[in-house]
Amino acid sequence: GAPVEVDIGAMQDGEKITVEWRGRPVWILKRSKAQLEELAKLDGQLADPNSQRNPAEFTPKYAQNTGRSIKPEILVVVGICTHLGCSPIDKLQAGPQPSLPSDWQGGFLCPCHGSTFDLAGRVFKNKPAPDNLPVPPHKYLTDTRLLIG
Ligand code: FES
Repeated sequence: GAPVEVDIGAMQDGEKITVEWRGRPVWILKRSKAQLEELAKLDGQLADPNSQRNPAEFTPKYAQNTGRSIKPEILVVVGICTHLGCSPIDKLQAGPQPSLPSDWQGGFLCPCHGSTFDLAGRVFKNKPAPDNLPVPPHKYLTDTRLLIG
């Protein structure tokens, strides 16, 4: 499949867009400062906080950091659960949301068997999904033009 170019210049804090790359949904999420600050506090609850497992498949070198990203605020991940391939739903705002557990602080929840991921796509411990959401190969052509693939 051809690489996909995306202009992220107009994205707002907390906004998520989905593009298709190689037949798969790729999520681009612009995280707010508050969301980024939360990430570092979650390490102890995560299965692979530093994204060291199978980096060739899940996390390119340039994304082996807490935010799993090149630009701190911009997350780029494949939106497919690493358990059996369902599509996780997101909770990007704080506070209760219908159909989501009330104690869920935010991130992504797989409706199939309950795996949860933080806003860097890192999977929480003791969940059926074994791995973090994959970060696809990507780079920036300019400050606001992202190339996936
Ligand atoms: Fe996501 Fe099973 S497919 S938890």
